[in-house]
Amino acid sequence: MMNIKQKLLVAGGAVLLASGVAQAAPPMQPASADPAAGAGLYQDNCASCHGENLEGQPDWKSQNDDGTLPAPPHDDSGHTWHHGDGLLFDYSKFGGQVALEQRGVSGFVSGMPGFAETLSDAQIWDILAFIKSTWPARVQEMQATRTDGEQRQGG
Ligand code: HEC
Repeated sequence: MMNIKQKLLVAGGAVLLASGVAQAAPPMQPASADPAAGAGLYQDNCASCHGENLEGQPDWKSQNDDGTLPAPPHDDSGHTWHHGDGLLFDYSKFGGQVALEQRGVSGFVSGMPGFAETLSDAQIWDILAFIKSTWPARVQEMQATRTDGEQRQGG
């Protein structure tokens, strides 16, 4: 079953396809991204919600009372790897709400804050490279396929 955010993402994708507007290519992880640096940055900035071992918050699939979702795991039991680089980067830099609004999805209250003020783009890519480095090769390949799809669709 899809949760509310997945439904919204599907809806947003349909809006983008229907509008047919040419989008700038979404961001992609640069080759210079450093997973070793990302490991420390992850502990300092992300682990408080997503877990020291990337395990996420307890009962992360159930909505909180205020309608937000708990922080999902970033290990391969979560759905981080279901998303291409562009969405992961925008979610981390601008926060969940803005990242979804950029994709035509409004009315979603996200508990994911943006890190544009605290982290550089390079540091965000380091963290994402670290998260990816914990996944088995097969999962890394599937996520790379999502990134390719994003690049083709322009969003
Ligand atoms: C204050 C708690 C909090 C912190 C700190 C936090 N997050 Fe999140 N994050 C969330 C929540 C809650 C979600 C759930 C999605 C939503 O509600 O939008 C989320 C979702 C995400 C997603 C989307 C995952 C998916 O599968 O949809 C990414 C990517 C992400 N966070 C990256 C990060 C990174 C990288 C950091 C550290 C730089 C970080 N988060 C720090 C709370 C947090």
